[in-house]
Amino acid sequence: MSLLLGVNIDHVATLRQARYALLPDSPNAEPSVVEAALEAKAGGADSITVHVRGDRRHMQDADVFRVKEACDLPLNLELGITEEMMDLAFRLKPDFACLVPETREEVTTEGGLDVVALFGTAREAVKRLKNAGIKVSLFIDPDLEHVEEAARMDADMIELHTGAFANATDPAVELARLVAAAELGHERGLQVNAGHGINYCNLPQLLEIPYLAELNIGHSIISRAMTVGMRQAVSEMLSGMKGYTSAP
Ligand code: PXP
Repeated sequence: MSLLLGVNIDHVATLRQARYALLPDSPNAEPSVVEAALEAKAGGADSITVHVRGDRRHMQDADVFRVKEACDLPLNLELGITEEMMDLAFRLKPDFACLVPETREEVTTEGGLDVVALFGTAREAVKRLKNAGIKVSLFIDPDLEHVEEAARMDADMIELHTGAFANATDPAVELARLVAAAELGHERGLQVNAGHGINYCNLPQLLEIPYLAELNIGHSIISRAMTVGMRQAVSEMLSGMKGYTSAP
């Protein structure tokens, strides 16, 4: 199986909201998240990721329903564990749901979900989403205890938080943590994904992590799309991912 690419299009909505926060349904509201999803698909994306945050700073509820309706790629909904977002997930019925931590102050998701402290809450959310036919991923730091807890709560997948690796001046230590977490996740039968801060430059080193099934990338692709267009930006990322071998 080749390494898949999920494209996070939240920042397309971030840009739209910069001008149209009060008029998201105006005929002039641009850029369009639906067009972005379709262009990502045309560039070869394997899935589309969207995150509806509690403060609706980028994606609005209507956006994610429109994307699901217009684009036939698998849809991955990132969500904080709240009744409001669980209800959205049950109505939207995305193919995948990725549970993430969420605090109002952060600019973007800044750490993994603390599945040790939140074991009971997260396990219940996993169970309810799985019962609704949605595959569930947990966005966690590359910490072995957290991988064990993810397996214990019967999640389908983990998404390893690669932010610390992406920000490190010497990424070797963070890379080693990611490798160990991926190995354990694989051993425990979890699908292993990775995301956050992945860009065209750090990608080659990140591909040293074994057992990866899918990368979720947003900021870097959307930024590159501003100069070369979404199709090209996605296709360039996919070129960098080609040749990945999952087993060490
Ligand atoms: N995966 C998760 C769970 C995220 O929350 C985010 C950012 O919102 C991403 C991946 C994508 O991160 P980036 O925008 O840095 O590529």
